[in-house]
Amino acid sequence: MTDQKTTVAQLGCGYWGPNLLRNFSALQGCGVKYVVDASSDRRRFVESNYPLTRAIDVGESDAVWEDPEIDAIVVATPAASHFELSKRALESGKHIFVEKPLATTTSEVEELAAIGKEKDLVIMAGHTFIYNSAVRYVKDLIDSGELGDLRYIYSQRLNLGRIRSDIDALWNFAPHDISIIQYWLNDPEPLSVSRQGMDYIQSGVDDVVFLSLVYPNKIMANIHVSWLDPQKVRKMIVVGSRKMVVYDDVSDNKIAIFDKGIDRLHVLGEHMDFDNLRPNEFSHRSGDLLMPQINFVEPLRTEAQHFVDCIREKLTPITGINHAKHVVSILEKARPIEKISI
Ligand SMILES: NC(=O)c1ccc[n+]([C@@H]2O[C@H](COP(=O)([O-])OP(=O)(O)OC[C@H]3O[C@@H](n4cnc5c(N)ncnc54)[C@H](O)[C@@H]3O)[C@@H](O)[C@H]2O)c1
Repeated sequence: MTDQKTTVAQLGCGYWGPNLLRNFSALQGCGVKYVVDASSDRRRFVESNYPLTRAIDVGESDAVWEDPEIDAIVVATPAASHFELSKRALESGKHIFVEKPLATTTSEVEELAAIGKEKDLVIMAGHTFIYNSAVRYVKDLIDSGELGDLRYIYSQRLNLGRIRSDIDALWNFAPHDISIIQYWLNDPEPLSVSRQGMDYIQSGVDDVVFLSLVYPNKIMANIHVSWLDPQKVRKMIVVGSRKMVVYDDVSDNKIAIFDKGIDRLHVLGEHMDFDNLRPNEFSHRSGDLLMPQINFVEPLRTEAQHFVDCIREKLTPITGINHAKHVVSILEKARPIEKISI
């Protein structure tokens, strides 16, 4: 690793942007020179909390594109603006970290990938959960074979939450679940993607969506997202042939591993010539419950450090183009069909 400083400019500092700003500002050998935001309130927030960072309006953003000191751009604006801003950043020779989703179509992702490749720039999507220790713990359990053969995964990301009108609940929340599931399964291509959702609050913007995915080897996944729900739930359940795991992101015990399953009983005389075919017999296995201690490091800190390491050491990010494109492609296949009037 070189001792060179990485200088960053951040676009957008609304609800999520302050978390990125805090983490990139705190990284050793990294500084945030500018924050660009269309809102004067948000620029005031930056000025009063980050005296070393210049807060500028969108109209003045040429200063960012043209500043040779800026190595990288962090994009934390609404999803619809990601592609144009990212493209402009890459064309200006800057590495990019873009909040999820990287873009809104796979062709946009491919266009960004082509520019990034041509200019040898790092492109990383902000799929934060891949930098979460609990998510990584489950990945290790799956990869080590501890769970046996994977059967199915389901997740719930629900609350009575912040309602958006630029994107629906699927595009807002499901990038997390899709990204986690893709990571656990090593980024396969799903065989099918189907969605059911409904718009109750704003016409044409689904508040609740159920997304179903089928993967090779009979692995199924179901994702339930909603900002119209009485409870805050952030839960994923992984069912394997040997063990089952509950990952609850809002619990103190984030991971629970159940030694539970259904085993086929050995039948006396089975596989012998004189054996008669018998109906299968099964037993329910209910063994220990393990709640491992997970050493928690703020995922955003790990994520921000990974981006800077990728720039300095010319690495491909874990949540680089390949991962981000799968997420966008699944979301794209799950675009809402035209509403049927009921
Ligand atoms: N990783 C996570 O867990 C997580 C969580 C929440 C949001 N996000 C992502 O962060 C991004 C921003 O979401 P948010 O909830 O903060 O949105 P937001 O609407 O609260 O904030 C967006 C900010 O961008 C500013 N802005 C808009 N257009 C701009 C432009 N062209 N240039 C500069 N600034 C501009 C707005 O003034 C606003 O302050 C989205 O992509 C969202 O998906 C990620």
